[in-house]
Amino acid sequence: MDLVLRISLVKIPGQTHYLELPERDLSKCIVPKTPENIMDIHFSPIGVIRTPFAEIKGTPVQPSASQGTQGRIELNEDLVPGLADLDGFSHLILIYHLHRSSGYNLQVVPFMDDQPRGLFATRAPKRPNPIGLSVVKLLRIEGSVLHIENIDALDGTPLLDIKPYVPQLDHAPEVRIGWLAEKLELASVATADERFK
Ligand SMILES: C[S@@+](CC[C@H](N)C(=O)[O-])C[C@H]1O[C@@H](n2cnc3c(N)ncnc32)[C@H](O)[C@@H]1O
Repeated sequence: MDLVLRISLVKIPGQTHYLELPERDLSKCIVPKTPENIMDIHFSPIGVIRTPFAEIKGTPVQPSASQGTQGRIELNEDLVPGLADLDGFSHLILIYHLHRSSGYNLQVVPFMDDQPRGLFATRAPKRPNPIGLSVVKLLRIEGSVLHIENIDALDGTPLLDIKPYVPQLDHAPEVRIGWLAEKLELASVATADERFK
């Protein structure tokens, strides 16, 4: 039988909260993988993103509008060995939780437009799964701190993953960019207002 290992936190069927079990009861944390829980996904932050942006309003809407803005990643200490070899890369893909977003609409007027667009044709922060993705410049690594540039996330944003940016893997050669083709002049200057607060 397929099993799911839940360490210390167990979801109680039909309830939205978790039961924390004492360590001696860990055996109870092994529950059968069922159609109900197989898509019940939980991530823990690997660190936190520090930036000069405390408020949504005025935060650049993409790294392209945040050129030169410095920030840092404070990685969880236990994960530092995973940084080996990363200093050979000039740019990183950051995947993070847009933790100050809640709710979503499937039609939105994006920051760089004045027309409603389908949510998934935008990078709007209010999404069913509020995950943000930014390609940032890596300046240097000092222990558990990664100094970065061109970040568009709010201060305190929980970081979910870091991957090296590799143009040969991540850059598609021939692309269409839909409604954004008419708005590209905004990509280097746009800052957020309060429409997604
Ligand atoms: C348009 S989103 C784009 C984020 C990312 N570059 C992406 O494409 O997934 C950037 C905006 O989201 C908002 N934002 C940034 N960090 C956030 C956070 N942690 N929680 C909620 N909103 C956030 C700010 O208004 C920022 O201007």
